[in-house]
Amino acid sequence: MSEVENMARLEALLFVAGDPLSFDDMATFLGVDRDEAVSLVEQLKRRYQRDPMSGLTIRQIEGAASLATKTSYADTLEAFYGKVRDLKLTDAAYETLAVIAYNAPATRAEIEAVRGVNSDSVVSRLIERGLVREVGTLETPGRPALLDVTEQFLMDFGLSSTRELPPVDLLMYDTITEFTQEKQSAAEIASAPRPLVIAIDGPSGSGKSTIARLLSEHLGILTLDTGAMYRALGVKALRLGISPSDQEAVRSMLSETTMDIDLSDRVQKTLVDGTDYTPYIRTPEASRAASDISALPVTREYCVRIQREIGKKQALILDGRDIGTYVFPDAPVKFFLTASHEIRAKRRLLDLERQGDPSTLEDVMRDMEFRDRQDSERQLAPTRRADDAVLIDTSDMSIREVVDVMIDVVRQREQVQPSWSQTRHG
Ligand code: DC
Repeated sequence: MSEVENMARLEALLFVAGDPLSFDDMATFLGVDRDEAVSLVEQLKRRYQRDPMSGLTIRQIEGAASLATKTSYADTLEAFYGKVRDLKLTDAAYETLAVIAYNAPATRAEIEAVRGVNSDSVVSRLIERGLVREVGTLETPGRPALLDVTEQFLMDFGLSSTRELPPVDLLMYDTITEFTQEKQSAAEIASAPRPLVIAIDGPSGSGKSTIARLLSEHLGILTLDTGAMYRALGVKALRLGISPSDQEAVRSMLSETTMDIDLSDRVQKTLVDGTDYTPYIRTPEASRAASDISALPVTREYCVRIQREIGKKQALILDGRDIGTYVFPDAPVKFFLTASHEIRAKRRLLDLERQGDPSTLEDVMRDMEFRDRQDSERQLAPTRRADDAVLIDTSDMSIREVVDVMIDVVRQREQVQPSWSQTRHG
């Protein structure tokens, strides 16, 4: 049986199964070995991801997979089913679920430490409802139980896995944020000065980092190059001999990785496990590794958490791909920079030449095309202009002109929202 036929058979099988089917069962029904079944599922999943005309996707839950609908069509389905996710949970239950999903496996004491209140009865109710289960005990005195969310929870919330898939991150982050915000009075929120966040997104070579640096000097606001974070993690993976696309290997790498961003002397240092990776992250290999590793949900969760933490504390310019759409969707000032393919490639070539890299324009264009496609077609947080971002085509503009336009926009917005607290440096 050819691979194409096997994919068609797998699709038919998952369609009639409805519920998640284990890889072992799939292998038996299809007459292939388990590894082949896993690979067929991956291929089918990629096919759905790439096909904008398909409303389907594959949902994987620990050793099993099922056919599911893309979360982007939830509105249509909600209209069809009525409110599918109306679980009528209390705020406390939502928050406890979020804490468990985010920190799993978690003990009752850890949940209490995060929520600040005893949560035992909420946890018991969640266990009764089948949304949380005990998955083991901790090897410490008293052997406290370790809790995790259940498959039922994942199914009810239309999620695939607590760690692997994007909606969990979005949902959990939003749940916690919403909950916290509900607890603050509306007046408090309105009057609290919020650090100014300026989002600059766009493809590589659009001039983001140079422009972010100049804007930073002009406005006296620190700037965070988020691409450097993905680059540094990509380089660490390569050094360890790990494929930057291997989700499981990257997950285990990240569990033992500490990343620190030092913005203290205006030139960003991206430290991984205490070592500054800045000198190693601008090579073509690092670019490819960054593009691969940044497509993994586990990496995004890791980096976005750090980015949000830094942006909460001080005024910040962030440049990246998904800052205005995902990391700080509420950023008051957003830009999306772009430029023609050739100009972007020439800019990148100049950067590489300065480092003594022998790449040709053709090499750079080919590489860039591949990365652009990968970065903008991935399912999770692709390079995309936020609806409220100011679009600037930098192809025929000097850097100075671009920066001037941006400063104007910032100044105009500042007049509307003077309560931004800008932690200026220098
Ligand atoms: O901007 P850059 O070329 O340094 O980014 C390196 C890679 O990291 C790029 O391929 C896309 C990815 N990236 C991302 O996915 N999200 C960001 N916010 C920044 C970069």
